[in-house]
Amino acid sequence: MDGLDDLRGKYLNGIGTAATEAALEDLRLAALGKKGEVAGLMRELGRMTPEERQTMGPALNALKDEIDAALRAKKAALGDMALNERLRSEWLDVTLPARPRRLGSIHPVSQVMEECTALFADMGFAVAEGPQVETDWYNFDALNIVPEHPARQEHDTFFMHRAEGDTRPPHVLRTHTSPVQIRAMQSQGAPIRIIAPGRVYRMDMDQTHTPMFHQIEGLAIDRDISMANLKWVLEEFFSAYFGTKVKTRFRASHFPFTEPGAEVDIQCSWSGGSLKVGEGDGWLEVLGSGMVHPSVLRAGGIDPDQWQGFAFGMGIDRMAMLKYGIPDLRAFFESDLRWLRHYGFSALDMPSVHAG
Ligand code: DAH
Repeated sequence: MDGLDDLRGKYLNGIGTAATEAALEDLRLAALGKKGEVAGLMRELGRMTPEERQTMGPALNALKDEIDAALRAKKAALGDMALNERLRSEWLDVTLPARPRRLGSIHPVSQVMEECTALFADMGFAVAEGPQVETDWYNFDALNIVPEHPARQEHDTFFMHRAEGDTRPPHVLRTHTSPVQIRAMQSQGAPIRIIAPGRVYRMDMDQTHTPMFHQIEGLAIDRDISMANLKWVLEEFFSAYFGTKVKTRFRASHFPFTEPGAEVDIQCSWSGGSLKVGEGDGWLEVLGSGMVHPSVLRAGGIDPDQWQGFAFGMGIDRMAMLKYGIPDLRAFFESDLRWLRHYGFSALDMPSVHAG
């Protein structure tokens, strides 16, 4: 029986200090496996006297159960330890504040588009849209710019590629937002009061020109709309936009799609090398406008004997430069993060002109 105590001591100790499931399995085989020590002793029972067997048999069985139970308990404990270790090492505090990230900013062009849209919306103008890839009919013909008209060359148009044998009508990157006038006439009929902000393209690149820039088109058609209405709308707009009373000056000009046509200047001063809108006796040209040409109304499906209206087209980038003191147009489209952070607007802190 002493032998059994040694055996018990040896295996229970071994199980107690085993650190892995593999070590436990080795101990199990050494003790209880077919060739294990306990099994070996059990085989010897046959050679014992009945008296010896009567004490040895139950003792061996008890030892076998004891080792077996110790193995199971240790195995479960090792499993718990592994789980605890994993829980410890993978612990994550989901209540910690997130790492600070730099917020993006609203581009000055987007900001100004939003401001202009809000101001014209106040005067009852809805927003209309058209495609940036436009047919040359919408971009030119419908606007009374006939093929031989010099404006058609002056616009420095980007034409879409056509493979030989491709019979689709010519498409261009729209050179102005004016084709949206035609689309609005066709889809809404008269009366109309819309603005159309958007991107336009011309093959031009220097300090004051980029091949892509932004315009906002305006169009109002009704029974008795006149240039006086145009002047009021524009002065109302510029005064609200610049936050100070701004006078306008109309100079007779020519656009194929207007009759008569006018270029519009806003009042400004140049004193001290800096430009101030709404004061002084200087003038700055900011847009083209006029009464919509009868041929243009007709192209849009509107009867020029019943309806008339005004239209205007204005550069948005220019408007942003004037209001926010941005000196170089090309910087608008260079995606320089330092520039964007300096001139951009916080999404939550935009100067809004929407009525509060
Ligand atoms: N489309 C002209 C341009 O891009 C601007 C313009 C002039 C628009 C007169 C108009 C207008 O609607 O009446 O240069």
